[in-house]
Amino acid sequence: MTFNFDEEISRHNTNSIKYDGLQLFFGSPDLVPLWVADMDFRTPEFIIDAIKNRLSHEVLGYSLRPDSFFEAITGWLKRRHNWKVEKEWIVFTPGVVPATNIGVLAFTQPGDGIITQPPVYFPFFTAATDHGRKLVYNKLNLTNGRLTVDFSDLEEKCRQGAKMIIISSPHNPGGNVWTRDELSKIAAICLRYNVLIVSDEIHSDLVYSPYKHTPMASLSDEIASKTITFIAPSKTFNVSGLSSSVAIIPDENLRKKFVSTLDHLHIGLGNIFGNVAMEAAFTHGDEYVDALMEYLAGNVALVETYLSEHIPQIKPVTPEATFLVWLNCREMGMTDKELNDFFINKAHLALNQGIQFGPGGEGFMRMNIGCTRAKLLQALEQLKLAFSNLSIS
Ligand SMILES: Cc1ncc(COP(=O)(O)O)c(C=O)c1O
Repeated sequence: MTFNFDEEISRHNTNSIKYDGLQLFFGSPDLVPLWVADMDFRTPEFIIDAIKNRLSHEVLGYSLRPDSFFEAITGWLKRRHNWKVEKEWIVFTPGVVPATNIGVLAFTQPGDGIITQPPVYFPFFTAATDHGRKLVYNKLNLTNGRLTVDFSDLEEKCRQGAKMIIISSPHNPGGNVWTRDELSKIAAICLRYNVLIVSDEIHSDLVYSPYKHTPMASLSDEIASKTITFIAPSKTFNVSGLSSSVAIIPDENLRKKFVSTLDHLHIGLGNIFGNVAMEAAFTHGDEYVDALMEYLAGNVALVETYLSEHIPQIKPVTPEATFLVWLNCREMGMTDKELNDFFINKAHLALNQGIQFGPGGEGFMRMNIGCTRAKLLQALEQLKLAFSNLSIS
């Protein structure tokens, strides 16, 4: 298989949020979009073929998920992450954010504390607050350019009675591949205080060499029995628009509760194309992911060398995973409003503002590098020009 990640595919006028939403979300259509977390690359051929194949039978009625769907997932998790998962543990969910909200509804009550670790993917916050749960922060620290967990604060928050923690593993936006040691420490604290672990592992296949993702639930049977894991092909294979993911819940009682909440909302059916895409991705995707990560590593290297050469005041946090780069812009000495204005109106770039990700995001911007190297270079050149104009004025 060969993949051409340099191919420039216009996404304008396709109702893409990233491109066609620029006017709505940033007030201008003429920005290089490096924001919402999908990639500009062609969805790989083995997925497109699977969808086309299903489409060739022109009756799109309700659909079952066959054994081969589950085998594709268990095979992938064993091959890629050395995690042995039973078919029975797998529950289809129509997206990871919906799954997170279902977890909150199934396992917590209004007023219960839910721990998140900001700066972090912001729908974690609303998963708590939208349902009247109490959002509890276990803020990450920035230690030698890497986000790190404050374990004593985590223990204190658990001791105070939180019922659930939602972690991003790997971490969005910091790009951490949490080590076995970090995950073991988080789990030990959660187990001690009976805090349920929701482990969002949507980015777990987007890991740079030599890092290695450890599924939280693979650490021990005891941890697995208190963990709900979410995975999806959406980020890795660029199929976010299919809204398809799975929850992996080894504990039978927890699984029954989760499925019951899902069923009461009648959203467990999913869609035909999501089903076939997920099966194809996890059956045929190995070579694609390896090639993708090599390309993305080149993009990370470009961002790092370009910034250190031309704009050393912006310091990227080196991602260990994800196509997202967390840019420390604090040395630019701007308020968050000024920083946002600089990126949009001076550099003509659309990035996510750090403060969206909660405390710790001040002075940061999140850059999506899931695009062609040429587009990334263009964006960096626009940034450099805007920056040099800043120094002149
Ligand atoms: C950590 C994390 N979880 C979930 C999602 C989105 O999941 P979904 O589109 O399946 O709801 C994202 C997208 O950026 C993400 O970064």
